[in-house]
Amino acid sequence: MNSNIVLIGFMGCGKSSIGRRLAGRLGHEFLDSDELITARAGKSITGIFADEGEEQFRNRETVELRELIDASRIVLATGGGAVLREENRQILHRIGTVIWLHADPDTLFTRATRSRKRPLLEVENPRTTFNTLLESRLPLYQQACSLKFDATGLSHDQTVEGILQAIESSRKTGQGTPESSV
Ligand code: S3P
Repeated sequence: MNSNIVLIGFMGCGKSSIGRRLAGRLGHEFLDSDELITARAGKSITGIFADEGEEQFRNRETVELRELIDASRIVLATGGGAVLREENRQILHRIGTVIWLHADPDTLFTRATRSRKRPLLEVENPRTTFNTLLESRLPLYQQACSLKFDATGLSHDQTVEGILQAIESSRKTGQGTPESSV
């Protein structure tokens, strides 16, 4: 297994902030699939959803993930829906160690709705949509990950330390399975 780390998890779990810090600690390059998508599209996530629809956004997401299969020394933060496609889930495993960054629903909801940059939650009743999406995706994160890390109540620094320790111990024991969740 290479040293790449792939962060998955629901909107608001902190994939980008934690990923950036993890990359700094590991001396890896930090990549964010949403940023790769917007750079290639020349428009924001909101703009892509509005102009092209979710399906085309998902196609763009798969294109960017495919490009990273041979990348090395990266920490990749993915969009919350990157696990929806079976193809993506397989690609993520090929890219690196897949870590599910989780937190309790209230924390996720507060963080996910802090900015207006998440078109899926720009609806009349965002909490209902949030609950439905979260419930449908939890099994996919579980299925897609090698490690689960619950960051509820932890600072960014504590989360980064915890993830580094979890990676270290899973590599030592060779237990890269959801059962080694921390
Ligand atoms: C999405 C999550 C977003 C972004 C897009 C769709 C999702 O990324 O990819 O708005 O389907 O959960 P974040 O998880 O970084 O917010």
